[in-house]
Amino acid sequence: MDVKEAIDKRRAFRSLEKTEIDEKLIRELAKSASLSPSCFNKQPWRFVFVKGRDKLEELYSSLSKGNEWAYYSSMIIAVISEKKLDCIVKSREYYLFDTGMASAFIILRATEIGLVAHPIAGFDEDKAKKILKIPDDMQLIAMIIVGKKSSKLNSELSDYQKKSEKERPERLSFEKFGSIDEF
Ligand SMILES: Cc1cc2nc3c(=O)[nH]c(=O)nc-3n(C[C@H](O)[C@H](O)[C@H](O)COP(=O)(O)O)c2cc1C
Repeated sequence: MDVKEAIDKRRAFRSLEKTEIDEKLIRELAKSASLSPSCFNKQPWRFVFVKGRDKLEELYSSLSKGNEWAYYSSMIIAVISEKKLDCIVKSREYYLFDTGMASAFIILRATEIGLVAHPIAGFDEDKAKKILKIPDDMQLIAMIIVGKKSSKLNSELSDYQKKSEKERPERLSFEKFGSIDEF
């Protein structure tokens, strides 16, 4: 699969089924993240790869309403960083930008491997940080829900969620987000 195909194939699917996750896969995804660019090569990202059954079950309890589809995941990747781990150029803070890029590398590599890797913001940060023993001063930015796409539609999804399993949510036209030479 080339990069274009991975970009095209990646979707935030919500109909998942369990699959085997081993340490080789985790290290492969982590390697992809570590090859991502970062300001002065600061590599501000930190990831907790949660795959143990008990820990996963505990982490599910931190998910927001509407994210129950993630109970069928086989791994959750906690995406973590902290402002002071990366460059601050004048007032521009780069930790979220760099950690987001590394996360995108993980998501695309997971797609290439044939997995769903669906980022979410819908969780209770304090609760999840306690469960994963993330230090207080670090930010749990997102979770990446990893699993195998189920051939069956998850009947517990909302109508909106069911619709977006079938067709990709609409994107802005180039004219709305891009311009050439000037803003
Ligand atoms: C930062 C971020 C937070 C998101 N939070 C959630 C979430 O809490 N629950 C959910 O079901 N999807 C979540 N999504 C997935 C988006 O809804 C999805 O990417 C978007 O609708 C576009 O669909 P597509 O990724 O399949 O193209 C999130 C995506 C991102 C990047």
